[in-house]
Amino acid sequence: MEKSINVAVLVGSLRKASLNRMVANSLIALAPAPLQLEMIEIGHLPIYNQDAEDPAPAAWTPFRERIRSADAVLFVTPEHNRSVPAALKNALDVGSRPYGKSAWAGKPGAVVSVSPGAIGGFGANHHLRQSLVFLDVPAMQQPEAYIGHADKLFDPHGNLINEETRKFLTRFMQAFGAWIEANTRSKSHGA
Ligand code: FNR
Repeated sequence: MEKSINVAVLVGSLRKASLNRMVANSLIALAPAPLQLEMIEIGHLPIYNQDAEDPAPAAWTPFRERIRSADAVLFVTPEHNRSVPAALKNALDVGSRPYGKSAWAGKPGAVVSVSPGAIGGFGANHHLRQSLVFLDVPAMQQPEAYIGHADKLFDPHGNLINEETRKFLTRFMQAFGAWIEANTRSKSHGA
């Protein structure tokens, strides 16, 4: 049997009817075996403040451990004022500390940006990639995923109704599976 690959999915929107959450649910449904995707909530994480470390706020520790235990990370994010929403940036910051103990280091990643707008959250997608370079998360380059006009892609129950998007998301997850395989560092090298 193929070994399963555990992918932590972080959604940058906190709202219930989030289009990003709908896309994330579609990605989870379309992912090929052996990828096992799980959404990790970020809305409850207190805003990062180094003064609050030791002991860290109760919510930070399990979040850090959950990211640490993941084989890969998938970010699905809206664009807020041409950048990454504060909630997602905060999750990146919380996971990156204490200094020298970043939970992100070496985990293969991928970025999907989603917007009702025409340019599909391009600005957020690339601002996020800037942080991922520093966090040592090798982020898949192709295919890029800027999901525009996202308000037209789902029925009122959150089901994906656009066939082209379904095909694209399926291809995206297949490519991500291959990316994870190609970028997973040997445990013996201390990733
Ligand atoms: C937005 N929105 C937005 N959209 C976009 O394409 N580019 C942008 O820069 C912004 N800026 C922005 C700032 C703030 C504070 C909010 C609340 C919203 C609109 C955004 O794309 C829209 O609300 C999406 O529906 C958000 O994603 P979810 O919540 O549906 O997943």
